[in-house]
Amino acid sequence: MILVTGASGRIGSRVAKYLVSQQQPLRLMSRTPDNLPDYEGVEKVFGDFEDQESLETAFDGIYTALIISGQALPGNRCVGHKYAFDAAKAANVGHVVYLSLLGATPESEFPYCRDHYQSEKFLAASGVPHTVLRPSFYLDHFLEKFDANGVIRGPGGTGNGAFVSREDVARAAAAAVLAKPGGVLEITGPELLSIDDVARRIGYLVGKDLKYVNEFLTETQNRLNAADVSKGKQNLEIGWFQAISKGEQSKLTDDFSKLTKAEPQTLEEYFGENLELLNKLRAPSVSDADPTR
Ligand SMILES: NC(=O)c1ccc[n+]([C@@H]2O[C@H](COP(=O)([O-])OP(=O)(O)OC[C@H]3O[C@@H](n4cnc5c(N)ncnc54)[C@H](OP(=O)(O)O)[C@@H]3O)[C@@H](O)[C@H]2O)c1
Repeated sequence: MILVTGASGRIGSRVAKYLVSQQQPLRLMSRTPDNLPDYEGVEKVFGDFEDQESLETAFDGIYTALIISGQALPGNRCVGHKYAFDAAKAANVGHVVYLSLLGATPESEFPYCRDHYQSEKFLAASGVPHTVLRPSFYLDHFLEKFDANGVIRGPGGTGNGAFVSREDVARAAAAAVLAKPGGVLEITGPELLSIDDVARRIGYLVGKDLKYVNEFLTETQNRLNAADVSKGKQNLEIGWFQAISKGEQSKLTDDFSKLTKAEPQTLEEYFGENLELLNKLRAPSVSDADPTR
């Protein structure tokens, strides 16, 4: 039996579909399992990384578990993941696949990378055979970075990354679950792109002049302070850009192809197949309506 945590999420729901299509014995975990879709023969279970008892039940009878990182503040989140690894150990799980993040080091500029590093340490210490998937930053995440004028602003410099689609992360995760424990795999997109490349190429898809404007750190801090953004959120926002700026995402690997026997999607292939993701950027308020640009 395979357990998928985060099964309601954008990665987990895709993984569930892949595994269902391959008729794998499956249990899906969520904090609101009643909201999960019904698949014939697929179990649904309540589980919360902050509730150890629930994890004991969720992992009982499981041979392989995909643990998709949950949502909590950096520093707290890895503790919930540790509870999941402990539950896997107690249930004699034979293979944990953990969804981490490229650049997971204790020195990373991005707080969630440091948190993933800590999670990976907990996983290794558990002794459970495992695969760690470290995807690049998601292409999807860039969509949230545009302001109302269609500009991404931040201290990302000229850094780049082989940013990856959620679809490919899900495909890699489904393949990893069905493979033997494989150590650390770095799941990247097919090409290194700067932030400006991403902005302009998304702009081309929506027919708008979208772009990236690099900021000095103090400019970003002043802008976020003026918008009353909390210190914790500022650290996340700034750290994301600085991780790119410092080259933490500048890696192109063939781990995706080796694992899935397919090629990762380009930006155009992914968004072309998921046009609804771009709807917000097509709205008139972005770029076209602002005569001051
Ligand atoms: N690499 C990147 O650029 C990037 C960007 C965004 C996110 N991420 C990470 O990748 C993960 C998966 O991405 P996604 O797009 O699928 O995220 P998503 O759509 O936001 O889904 C997050 C999932 O996490 C589950 N979850 C949250 N808190 C939990 C908890 N305390 N216990 C158990 N489950 C919990 C949620 O399940 P329920 O609410 O149903 O319990 C949900 O299914 C995210 O959670 C995040 O850690 C990475």
